[in-house]
Amino acid sequence: MTRTLPTRTLVRDLTGRLDDVVTVYGWIDTLRLQRRMQFAVVRDHTGSVQVTHARGGADDAIEAAFERVTVESAVKVIGRVVANPVVKLAGIEIRPERVEIVSLAEAGLPIDRNTGPDRRQDWRFLDVRRPERRLVFDVQTTVEQAMRRVAAAEGCTEMHTPKLMGTASESGAEVFTVDYFGRSAYLAQSPQFYKQTAIAAGIDRVFEIGPVFRAEPSYTSRHATEFTGVDAELAWIDGVGDVMAFEERMLVAVLADVRDRHGAEIERLLGVEVTVPATPFPRIAMADALTRLRAAGWDPAGAAVDLDPEGERRLAALIAEETGHAFVFVTRFPASVRPFYHLRPDDDPTVTESFDLLWKGVEITTGAQREHRYDRLLGQLREKGMDAAPLASYLDCFRFGMPTHGGFGLGLSRVLMLLLGLPSIRDATFLFRGPNRLEP
Ligand code: 4AD
Ligand code: MG
Repeated sequence: MTRTLPTRTLVRDLTGRLDDVVTVYGWIDTLRLQRRMQFAVVRDHTGSVQVTHARGGADDAIEAAFERVTVESAVKVIGRVVANPVVKLAGIEIRPERVEIVSLAEAGLPIDRNTGPDRRQDWRFLDVRRPERRLVFDVQTTVEQAMRRVAAAEGCTEMHTPKLMGTASESGAEVFTVDYFGRSAYLAQSPQFYKQTAIAAGIDRVFEIGPVFRAEPSYTSRHATEFTGVDAELAWIDGVGDVMAFEERMLVAVLADVRDRHGAEIERLLGVEVTVPATPFPRIAMADALTRLRAAGWDPAGAAVDLDPEGERRLAALIAEETGHAFVFVTRFPASVRPFYHLRPDDDPTVTESFDLLWKGVEITTGAQREHRYDRLLGQLREKGMDAAPLASYLDCFRFGMPTHGGFGLGLSRVLMLLLGLPSIRDATFLFRGPNRLEP
């Protein structure tokens, strides 16, 4: 005879179910087995509840189950919700009528609160059972939903461009090569060229969230070899300012949603306050940034025309002090440090109509207006010493009527890392990929 279980009650809803018999599914968080009483804290993704059992019933199956069960075992508990002001967890507990061990955890967990970051990655599924780690992915869901909502409201069409390519996208470096039926294919380092192909195809505004691969042997807290990129590309822009304003509107909406939906939990579990920035974000041209940083004592090796990570941090500190703003757009990067396809303004062909967006001193976005005129694009490509032949199918897009356009690429995990004050991009990624990490 099978007995149907009552439907599941989430732990967060238990306070509204006083005196009811409920079923809770979750993991054993802690166990305290005393001479007369047994206490288990059962945790689901919405919270934790104490389950309290007095030993010594006749033929006591619950007592036996609590003796056998281990921490992190998966269990179902059926019991009555009772008020108990002594209990810290919401002043309620469950008096069990039945305890079912769904799957016993092996005794002796491989990680605990003091385990270092690398070993935590080995056991990531156990690591993410901790509420403050799981929260990252709830926040990520909200971030992506808000981005999609804004993109749609702004008239974007969501596209999915190929991640396997016949030619390395922007440059030969930092690209993974894979065997493709006996010839080489490359993993996309950016949807850049395909976003522009979509613009040529008459997709007015392009939006994509997808995987990005970078064969960078970087071991910093902000680099991964695979990450999720958020890309937009807008046709018929009047200038790069249109792209920056679009990104501002998107980030403000994202941060407002995160604050409204998760602000209290982020503060409680991670000690971080989510604030929504004012617009417009501060903007500073690269040349001015360099002048100001040098005046403030920044002295990078060589004649720097670009910011290194230290320069980015210092600039962010300077801007924050001056404006109270944690974001800053750095604009007009020199053409020498930007790709051939960035548009150069008529008044100064040594710079580009491009930007990086820094948040708390870390680059989260690179964007630009693109050169849409075929002749100029070819000229800039040759000037960089590049060969046009492998890029033929990209360049063809500019031969039959290309609108003005521009866009940006944003690293999703970097945004999460900065938003939640996490020490590394590893903590903002479910299963991190780096030069030394292909497992799990
Ligand atoms: O700055 P990136 O390389 O720019 C592009 O890919 C351009 N095609 C975008 C465009 O539309 N012009 O990459 C965009 C963003 C960076 O600002 C950073 O946030 C993130 O992607 N990013 C990384 N995140 C994690 N690990 C890495 N190795 C990353 N490299 C870039
Ligand atoms: Mg960049």
